[in-house]
Amino acid sequence: MIRLSGVSRTFDGRSGRVEALRGIDLDVAEGEFVAVLGRSGCGKSTLLRLVAGLLPVTEGEITVAGRPITRPRPDIAMLFQRPALLPWRTVLDNVLLPVEIFGWKRAKHRERARQLLDLAGLGGFEKRLPHELSGGMQQRVSLCRSLIAEPRVMLMDEPFSALDALTREELSGELQRVHMETSPTVVFVTHSIDEAVLLADRVVVLSPRPGRIRKVVDVTIPRPRTLGRNAHLADVAQVSADLHELLMERDLPAHAAAEGR
Ligand SMILES: Nc1ncnc2c1ncn2[C@@H]1O[C@H](COP(=O)(O)OP(=O)(O)OP(=O)(O)O)[C@@H](O)[C@H]1O
Ligand SMILES: [Mg+2]
Repeated sequence: MIRLSGVSRTFDGRSGRVEALRGIDLDVAEGEFVAVLGRSGCGKSTLLRLVAGLLPVTEGEITVAGRPITRPRPDIAMLFQRPALLPWRTVLDNVLLPVEIFGWKRAKHRERARQLLDLAGLGGFEKRLPHELSGGMQQRVSLCRSLIAEPRVMLMDEPFSALDALTREELSGELQRVHMETSPTVVFVTHSIDEAVLLADRVVVLSPRPGRIRKVVDVTIPRPRTLGRNAHLADVAQVSADLHELLMERDLPAHAAAEGR
């Protein structure tokens, strides 16, 4: 569904050249949930912006559903770290924003928008303005907005990182449910090992400067998963420990990293 071949991205800034990503090869299957895990600055957001068509690649090619990415597309939704709602528009009008941007009929999608808000526990808040909602509620509105176009691909850039731990867990649970029910293809950026283990079929671990794929780890724990006490506690702990080790390896000399140690 998503294919990255030899993708590199370099930024030329005032303070010199930054190689954000180098030689990324990655295939994400239809309906798969892939988490991208890495430390701050290793190129996670850059990777998502490239796939979203918000930023051109320096080298390589990205295709989604067989077509090269050249600009943002209605079948690909992006969810940012902050809710990024328009403060002067009501909750309902914020959810309907993509409908306007892509020039579709509002009336046709209004009912769907209400349904999504209901599902997200926001029924009755349609006419409120964003500042009247809590941070978690605002992020749920932006989740509804990203779902309104029924995207086949969802790109999520640390969508829950600004929230408190409980709200975060609740929303991850909700995302897991949405994914189990409608199986969109998801690429989910996070620096939380817990989130990656809870949600992903595969975890792509990036190493920094330049951002490269260090390892891809399969997570085969049956769903629905929880981080609390459950039958698969030992498996969860094992995968978490593996990911933790991979993330901590950053100070290895380049040749050792290249040999996969
Ligand atoms: N527009 C830009 N201009 C110049 N450099 C940039 C730009 N965007 C990103 N970079 C650089 O590219 C590298 C990767 O940045 P990116 O934002 O992708 O990291 P990240 O993994 O998302 O980090 P975080 O976890 O902190 O969000 C960094 O060194 C950053 O300074
Ligand atoms: Mg980022």
